[in-house]
Amino acid sequence: MAEKVHRVVFEPEGRLLFVPDGETLLDAARRAGLHLNAPCGGKGTCSGCRIIIPHEPPPPTEACLRELSGEELRRHLRLACQVRVRRDMRVVIPEETRLGDQKILTDGVGRSVALAPNVRKVALHLPPPSVQDQRSDADRLLDGLADEGLSGLEIGVKVVRELPGRLRDLEFHPAAVVVGREVTHLERPAGADACYGVAFDVGTTTLVGYLVDLTTGRQAAVASRTNPQAAYGDDVVARIEYCGRKKDGARMLYDLVIGAMNEIVAEVCRKAAIKPSVVYEATVVGNTTMNHLLLRLPVDGIGRAPFVAASASAHGVSARDLGLRIHPRGRVYTAPLVASFVGADTVGVILATGMHTGGGLRLALDIGTNGEIVLGTRERLLACSTAAGPAFEGARIRYGMRAATGAIDRVDLDGDRLVLHTIDEAPAVGLCGTGLIDAVAALVRAGIVSASGLMRAPPDLAARAPALAARLVGGDGDPGFVLAAADETQTGHPILLTQRDVREVQLAKGAMAAGIRMLLEAFGAGVGDIREVLLAGAFGNFIRPERALEIGLLPPVPPDRVQFVGNAAGAGARMLLVNRDLRRVADDVARGVEHVELSQRPEFQGLFAEAMFFPQPDV
Ligand code: FES
Repeated sequence: MAEKVHRVVFEPEGRLLFVPDGETLLDAARRAGLHLNAPCGGKGTCSGCRIIIPHEPPPPTEACLRELSGEELRRHLRLACQVRVRRDMRVVIPEETRLGDQKILTDGVGRSVALAPNVRKVALHLPPPSVQDQRSDADRLLDGLADEGLSGLEIGVKVVRELPGRLRDLEFHPAAVVVGREVTHLERPAGADACYGVAFDVGTTTLVGYLVDLTTGRQAAVASRTNPQAAYGDDVVARIEYCGRKKDGARMLYDLVIGAMNEIVAEVCRKAAIKPSVVYEATVVGNTTMNHLLLRLPVDGIGRAPFVAASASAHGVSARDLGLRIHPRGRVYTAPLVASFVGADTVGVILATGMHTGGGLRLALDIGTNGEIVLGTRERLLACSTAAGPAFEGARIRYGMRAATGAIDRVDLDGDRLVLHTIDEAPAVGLCGTGLIDAVAALVRAGIVSASGLMRAPPDLAARAPALAARLVGGDGDPGFVLAAADETQTGHPILLTQRDVREVQLAKGAMAAGIRMLLEAFGAGVGDIREVLLAGAFGNFIRPERALEIGLLPPVPPDRVQFVGNAAGAGARMLLVNRDLRRVADDVARGVEHVELSQRPEFQGLFAEAMFFPQPDV
């Protein structure tokens, strides 16, 4: 019997899709290339995938009833992951549900390193053979390279096969491309000075690619994308679960990430006016799950105790095998990992900040979707990972969104007047991580959120700050604080900070703060010993340290000890591209860092519960 299909039109694009009976709207939208927010990966617990079915919406499921307000249900909102298509329908995707282009941080520190790339392209003038000089073509080429200072090289049999024809075509005047210790192919000498590499930071939420001229070490272009895998869950655990649930899930996630990386390659090459065929190497840093999904290594061991990765080593693979569209004989180097939840991105942060080379006790925080924490000195480095990020990236927050146009990114109190700022100064659409921290800090300061995180109006609020008191809605049952009224927003609906949002912030900052405490204890140091707090990652660079200190996300150090180091993981990837010797250092760093597995420490729960409290302004 033919499969029953339905016509679904996604608005505002008007994209028509034929959807098999019973498929969820979330899956259908993904197939149509429309990437919706789906932080929980389709489990009906995050409310990220809100869509509107204007005509005769199906009855709400239990998850819809739990996640959506009465008002939203009346406006025909449903969760896309909960609606199974049983008939033709029109579906509207609200702006805040889309995985839009967000502000992606591409700058980072990065110590200067000597130019010693793994790829070299050398123009040669070889003497043609004669009866007096009967060296083989391969020896002739190797001798020519040795004269240029490149000795001890090899030529693979594939290259030798085409060598005689190629040398004669080029009249013994080739440009030899050497990757590592191997001659990979011969090119025309005219392009001998075009030799590039791409360094990738493959994050859970964002991908950044830096095109680097390997003859000078200079960055030639940069491009970024939202990681399209985010449509399958916004944290690594959700993606690992997705791979476990769907037979070809891992393959699909690989296709998405390599597709986005190829888009980045095309974009940086366009910007620098070069061809992808003169890009000969790529370096990649990423967390363990991103690394494994890209290399098509199994991820199931990462997600369940005892949390074991398939491989923590650096890997070198051919670009063609990986599907990366640089020169087909190019190579891809993936940096080594520390542990299941502390990946090569952390190794990149350490290399870029030079934590392994000295500078007193330093604490590096990479507050991405997962929070990675490194503490230590040249002698000893400790690292751990916490589930910190989703809330700060807008997930699991009622009106949360990523840092894109219209996101409230700053909240200040001027007396009892609330002052908001939005990205691009556009009408408000939702609340991003920095705005979330600011909003919570402001409410803690105003006494509206208590030390334990309870949102309630203190008895004197109406007299002391009537304008703030008027923003509290929902009473004791489901309190919320109106940040932007309906007439101030793009959607025509108010944007609230809810009690549940405050809880999410407590969980995230509690995990981060407890992780820091655990590392300090394991190191045998106190907060006062920290010489510098280095804030890395997309989110870290935009937060205001005073606010993060106010809510206890950062340990109580003087604000001038907090340094922004930008996309340090990406800077580490660039350094690994420019200097091949650093790859050995990266191996040593990855092996030398002591991983502290928080879930295995009995004291973690106690510290976590304690760290969920907000420091009180008057204490
Ligand atoms: S509620 Fe639908 S993806 Fe989370």
